[in-house]
Amino acid sequence: MDGTYNLNGGFKPTLKRFADLDGPDFYPTPAWATHALIDNEAFTGEVWESACGNGAMSKVLEKASPLVTSSDLYDRGFGDSGVDFLNSNRRAENIVTNPPFNSAEGFVRAGLERAEKKFALLLRLAFLEGARRQRTIFSVSPPSRVWVFSERITFYPLNAERKGSGTTAYAWFVWDKDAPSATELLWFKPGYKAAYPESD
Ligand SMILES: C[S@@+](CC[C@H](N)C(=O)[O-])C[C@H]1O[C@@H](n2cnc3c(N)ncnc32)[C@H](O)[C@@H]1O
Repeated sequence: MDGTYNLNGGFKPTLKRFADLDGPDFYPTPAWATHALIDNEAFTGEVWESACGNGAMSKVLEKASPLVTSSDLYDRGFGDSGVDFLNSNRRAENIVTNPPFNSAEGFVRAGLERAEKKFALLLRLAFLEGARRQRTIFSVSPPSRVWVFSERITFYPLNAERKGSGTTAYAWFVWDKDAPSATELLWFKPGYKAAYPESD
């Protein structure tokens, strides 16, 4: 049984992902959460993981594309370091990442400019809310698809003891230049967490 849930099907939240206000907000994404994306979204051509951390997401993306490039503002021993996605002129056919919590809106704006085909961001589901985002993002560039997780993602700081479960709902927000403009709301089937347990 998945320990994330109470018997009545409700979540058992015991661990929050705190924003690291002074630092770079480095939380590797559990592999199963990236598997859920690549099982449901196809990426043709290059995929750029533009805030790659230690490569947790890049390594899964490599299963979907032979052309994954990775960079991060900080040197975490993976990909190119010193690349500020918010101030880079680089473009790519596809861009996929889990951005730092404190710069999520900046990442959306930068990604919309730099991705030629698909741009996918793992964000809090609550990113859908907010008057400013309605004006600056959703009324002008709504995502093509929002994939809601039916299982909770738990983010742990690197090397932290893995206990407790997440309190925050996340979703993959996908901007697809080839899709109609209306946003489609979709749900991942449960089972990814169990299918890729080595990462949880
Ligand atoms: C939440 S972690 C996610 C890491 C990785 N994407 C993953 O999913 O495992 C956010 C990452 O964004 C990086 N970062 C913060 N600001 C950045 C910026 N302006 N440009 C590029 N990377 C940045 C951090 O160093 C950190 O590795």
